[in-house]
Amino acid sequence: MARTNDFNDRMLSLGLARVSEAAALASAKLIGRGDEKAADQAAVNAMRDQLNKLDIRGTVVIGEGERDEAPMLYIGEEVGSGTGPEVDIALDPLEGTTLTAMDMPNALTVIAMGPRGSMLHAPDVYMDKLAIGPGFRPGVVTMDMSPSERVSALAAAKGCSTEDITVCILQRPRHEDMIAEIRTTGAAIRLITDGDVAGVIHCAESELTGIDMYMGQGGAPEGVLAAAALKCMGGQIFGRLLFRNDDERGRATKAGITNFDRVYTRDDMVTGDVIFAATGVTDGSILAGIKREVGYLTTETILMRSKTGSVRRMTYRNPTR
Ligand code: FBP
Repeated sequence: MARTNDFNDRMLSLGLARVSEAAALASAKLIGRGDEKAADQAAVNAMRDQLNKLDIRGTVVIGEGERDEAPMLYIGEEVGSGTGPEVDIALDPLEGTTLTAMDMPNALTVIAMGPRGSMLHAPDVYMDKLAIGPGFRPGVVTMDMSPSERVSALAAAKGCSTEDITVCILQRPRHEDMIAEIRTTGAAIRLITDGDVAGVIHCAESELTGIDMYMGQGGAPEGVLAAAALKCMGGQIFGRLLFRNDDERGRATKAGITNFDRVYTRDDMVTGDVIFAATGVTDGSILAGIKREVGYLTTETILMRSKTGSVRRMTYRNPTR
């Protein structure tokens, strides 16, 4: 008989896909309606309801925020039926609330689960991130390199010209210098307006997406989710937390972080086996968005396990009446 503490990732993975599907379906009616908050709330409610149906003793370690700012799926909230393995959960019920509200590409629902204590409790601060896909020696690109050095190092490792490299970056004023420096190498830049979990995942399927490397500052919680995805798909990600004020440093301390300058690798952020599910809300390069037909909504979900490296893409046709 399985011990209740076993992280039975094989059995739990389908349940995790259901959780991410439910959040996407709930946000479907809010795609393109200009209301970020309502879209997020619908996804949060549905994700929480489904999570509570799973036979787990789960703790949200990456969630909607601190308890006093988020009534549901807050950091530390216990989820699941209360029987089964003790697990940590990282989630973003709607990664790309603006993308959803504006009906722009690459909005996803995202969730990852691992054994208790296996995920970095990243506070809600920014993280400087660098990611590449699988197949490169460890450390081929590093956080210590300048943006142009990273492009050159990756091109050398791929045996191609820097002009054949495409870097994905969030379009923000804070990235202007980095973008200007990368332009000097001749590399292409794919600017995204939001959604850097998808941005990082793109690197793991560069033949499909055309993206070789992700760079720049985004949310730290999204960094841990992206690390979980790359742990399943292969690839490297590095992250350094960034603090703008004492409140943010306080959040990190509360989360148990003592070294504020540490560069976290993928396996520092997710130390054990992990399962990861994401469902497309709007069409994107990794996943199709929700399709509406008379009487049905159809979703596409990517479901992955780090233990086996298995990557499933599942379509789900959900009757609406
Ligand atoms: P939401 O899920 O809240 O819409 O966040 C989207 C996102 O673009 C993340 O993917 C990214 O890490 C972060 O926001 C970037 O933060 P900022 O918008 O402050 O630059």
